[in-house]
Amino acid sequence: MKKITIIGMGNMGTAIAERFGEAGFQVISCRKEDDVNEKLGDADMFVIAVKPQSFKDLASSVSVELSDKLAISAMAGVTIASVQKQLHMRNVVRAMPNLGVKIGKGVVGWVASPEVEDAQKKDVHSLFQTCGSSVEMESEEKVDAITALHNPSYYFYICEQVEEKAKAMGFSPSDARQIAEDAFVGSAAVFASDDRTAAEWRAAVTSKGGTTEASINHFEESALGQILQDGIEKGKDRSEEISQSM
Ligand SMILES: NC(=O)c1ccc[n+]([C@@H]2O[C@H](COP(=O)([O-])OP(=O)(O)OC[C@H]3O[C@@H](n4cnc5c(N)ncnc54)[C@H](OP(=O)(O)O)[C@@H]3O)[C@@H](O)[C@H]2O)c1
Repeated sequence: MKKITIIGMGNMGTAIAERFGEAGFQVISCRKEDDVNEKLGDADMFVIAVKPQSFKDLASSVSVELSDKLAISAMAGVTIASVQKQLHMRNVVRAMPNLGVKIGKGVVGWVASPEVEDAQKKDVHSLFQTCGSSVEMESEEKVDAITALHNPSYYFYICEQVEEKAKAMGFSPSDARQIAEDAFVGSAAVFASDDRTAAEWRAAVTSKGGTTEASINHFEESALGQILQDGIEKGKDRSEEISQSM
């Protein structure tokens, strides 16, 4: 059985560890108080799930030879070159998971350094499939892009507006939350139920002269769509900025 060590058992490390067991790997957890060299020992690969600012300290505590292993970095804004340099190894995958991994419904975008072998990529793909969907990309620029695209906070933000408006309309906080949750979860399930695009689904539920049209017309007149797209672009720019500064 192949072995994978997860370094950093916080939010993401714990979520990943729970999923990866399903791919038939032996998962070894490595917490701050553990001896990282012992935990890395005979592992075939390892995941770096510490905060980017903790990476330098972690790297300086590693003394075992890593050249025969594969590193999968889940750290936002840390480039493959930086992981290669600080860990003195070549085979590195840079991955960007999202919160959905917690329940096996996440999206993991990833890119591999040229040295990563096809068999290793196959393993990485199988591991990430247990997290939801696994999307291999051709460049680190795309990792910055997917970081901004698959961010659950945008949806939370919209739910937040629905909750606030429901409370302003006289609903109790618990009813407001329930309305926001049910509308969101139901819409997501319907969206996933066939191949129609979001625009097609929206058109399907918008009748001429109806309530949906009144709301959507206001969003369009206020350029809300463009504002959301600009916000996503800002996230990508910030991800690139962080990558360049690490
Ligand atoms: N959370 C997300 O949704 C998400 C999404 C995409 C990517 N990521 C990436 O995933 C990484 C982890 O994020 P997170 O939200 O899971 O952070 P977190 O909850 O703070 O987890 C980080 C964990 O790493 C531990 N740690 C620090 N130094 C360590 C060391 N030398 N050896 C072993 N463990 C060590 C921390 O322990 P202490 O608390 O004791 O310091 C903590 O338990 C980040 O790089 C982030 O960019 C997270």
